Amino acid sequence: MRRLIRGGTVLTEDGPRRAQILISGDLIEAVLDPVLEAPADAEVFEAEGWWVMPGGIDAHVHSRDPGFPDKEDFDSLTAAAAAGGITTVVDMPNTVPAVASAHLLRDKAALVQARARVDFGLWGLVRSTSSPETLADLLAAGAVGLKAYLGYAFRSSDGSVRYSADSAAPDLEAPPDYGSLARLAPALVGMDALLAVHAEDAQMLREFARPIKDYEDILAGRPDLAEAMAISALGLISSRTALKVHIAHLSSASGLRAALLARSDGADLSLETCPQYLHLSAADYPRLGALMKMNPPIRTEADRAALLQGLLAGEISIVATDHAPHTDAEKLQASLADAHPGSPGVQTLYLSCLEIAQRQGDAWRAAAWASVEPARRLGLWPQKGRLGPGSDADLTLVEPGPETVASVEAMQSRQRHGALMDQRFGFAVRAVFSRGQLVAQDGRPCGPAGWGRMVRPHS
Ligand code: NCD
Ligand code: ZN
Repeated sequence: MRRLIRGGTVLTEDGPRRAQILISGDLIEAVLDPVLEAPADAEVFEAEGWWVMPGGIDAHVHSRDPGFPDKEDFDSLTAAAAAGGITTVVDMPNTVPAVASAHLLRDKAALVQARARVDFGLWGLVRSTSSPETLADLLAAGAVGLKAYLGYAFRSSDGSVRYSADSAAPDLEAPPDYGSLARLAPALVGMDALLAVHAEDAQMLREFARPIKDYEDILAGRPDLAEAMAISALGLISSRTALKVHIAHLSSASGLRAALLARSDGADLSLETCPQYLHLSAADYPRLGALMKMNPPIRTEADRAALLQGLLAGEISIVATDHAPHTDAEKLQASLADAHPGSPGVQTLYLSCLEIAQRQGDAWRAAAWASVEPARRLGLWPQKGRLGPGSDADLTLVEPGPETVASVEAMQSRQRHGALMDQRFGFAVRAVFSRGQLVAQDGRPCGPAGWGRMVRPHS
């Protein structure tokens, strides 16, 4: 089937201009002059007054599937993604069993594909005991890259990743550390692998840990110095070995500074931050309570300002959500000490980026942060992240002007309360196409579960 998206302003590779997009099957066939007549066999979709952006790519989500169906699964995750204009989600490997081998990745892909409403990629897990062969097999099976959680232990009895390593249980395997990553780095470079890292120094977290009574305890227990140290160490490994490193959820001015110093020493680091670190600070705690508890924490106003500055300067190239839902019992009914870390967010990624970019004078930059740059770094471009002939017809149609509120009722994720609750955005996501299929309209998912396909990087 052919379809013509008519009347909008399209973000082409040369910038936004009035144009029509002709879709044939899964792909964009052509970007056409705005006055051309529709081909006789094409169904016309009116986008008058709207912006046509490349479908969003969230490089950091936690689907909880398989493992925690009460928190989320791929159906609810991708319903939320579609509603917010995200046409590719890239899922972290801390599902259960964690994605630490090629056969576990294949099992997960088959399972979640049946529920996926948009396309997805999968990260593989680096354990401290991972061999180069295991990691090469994971990449060959289609992992977009590998993720190392500094300080998060692996429990071999059920194959789960724990939030800490503070137990001596015999089934707890030590987290990967700088030693294991430096050992693996040359092999990873040989595989052209991208290594994503949860960058908080484990020894720092252990030394600074203290009982959590108030938000101050969270900030003191996970200091920005822990992030900066981890980034410096990874920067050294990268500059000495040419390892491609992706810093997940950058949260602090110190971490940013460490990354820039490492880059000036030759490190190949990509930086990802999240909407919650750009919109919020510790001052929001009285309003949000445990909803804003996450690792690493939302920090000071000075950190927020530095991250925003780094994004605008192009030092941080990717915005992803770290979408990490938990149940009401784990989040709403728990004390700050007991609440699980993480917040849903995939549904408001594009809206957040549009709003932030708009305030700085050029809303179209949102597409770079939430689509083009993640596509490039993850090796998915030009299949994803590009509105041009031959690319997948993943389109997010946005109307500038009408306000969207991140209300609890509008959220499609299983956990509807999140850190960005009640945020206001001066845009509406009107229609979303995944490979030519309409998957959401006016914030409501409408496509079939099972439509999504796994994407894998290509060189
Ligand atoms: C994530 C989770 O719950 O899976 N939580 C979080 O606070 N960010 C784990 C992670 O991304 O580190
Ligand atoms: Zn993380």
